Amino acid sequence: MSHGSPTRTVLVTGAAGGMCRGINARLAAAGHTVLCADLSLEAAESAAEAVRAAGGRAEAFAVDVADADSVSALADAVHERAGDIDVLVNAAGILDRKYLADHDAHSFERTLDINLVGPFRMIQTFAPELVRKGWGRIINISSIAGVTGYPYPSYSASKAGLSNLTRSLVIDFWGTGVTVNSICPGVVDTPMVIQQVRDQVPRKVPTEQIVNPDEIGGLALFLMSDDARNINGADLLIDGGATRYFQLFDRP
Ligand SMILES: NC(=O)c1ccc[n+]([C@@H]2O[C@H](COP(=O)([O-])OP(=O)(O)OC[C@H]3O[C@@H](n4cnc5c(N)ncnc54)[C@H](O)[C@@H]3O)[C@@H](O)[C@H]2O)c1
Repeated sequence: MSHGSPTRTVLVTGAAGGMCRGINARLAAAGHTVLCADLSLEAAESAAEAVRAAGGRAEAFAVDVADADSVSALADAVHERAGDIDVLVNAAGILDRKYLADHDAHSFERTLDINLVGPFRMIQTFAPELVRKGWGRIINISSIAGVTGYPYPSYSASKAGLSNLTRSLVIDFWGTGVTVNSICPGVVDTPMVIQQVRDQVPRKVPTEQIVNPDEIGGLALFLMSDDARNINGADLLIDGGATRYFQLFDRP
């Protein structure tokens, strides 16, 4: 930890997932305390234990971000055991691989409830303490599926909504010292990514690389740094350039 960079308390939802293993590790290695929240306490505890095994500080909490009462119980537990948070990372999410015809209203809404309304609930619950302290960072894990079209519409709609929620909240947090940004990963090396997509990476991603979860952690750390204090309302693509070119051309 370099002189003058404060250690922060960071609450991460979906903390037991593949991507968060990288996020948790990078945050903890920089000296921050990671509050790992996930659907099951056992899964959250295993994520926290991985952080502690590497010498970091972590606590485990259970939460269902689709349930307002559960989010409110999480807030009570966090405040009792860890005090106020400084940074909220909304990473909990589901990818329901259904095409339009396979959905009913309930299944479509379920994805929105977790991926979009979940972060809204979390932000509404935890933002007041960030505002009160005059410094805070909210980092929403969106997706390139929210930037381009995507085969599974509930997922892409939820992530497009999350990215635009991010942009809209800069107005709510005007002058408060709180910034809100989203990270839009491309193909990340996690169990969420099927082999067929992995096989496409050298042909479709200009860097020819799958993104490592640690890189998402590195970007989150940057957003927490002073150098990023004017990055606000951004959608930060970390996709190797996959969404940046005209798809009718292939690699040379
Ligand atoms: N893996 C990728 O390539 C990729 C790319 C772009 C964006 N993302 C996004 O990154 C985030 C993390 O993805 P991942 O690859 O680690 O997926 P993952 O499935 O490994 O992790 C998601 C975590 O969220 C938790 N979760 C699900 N529903 C929840 C709920 N209602 N309440 C609390 N926690 C809940 C799960 O238990 C799981 O631990 C997701 O939001 C995902 O949409 C992933």
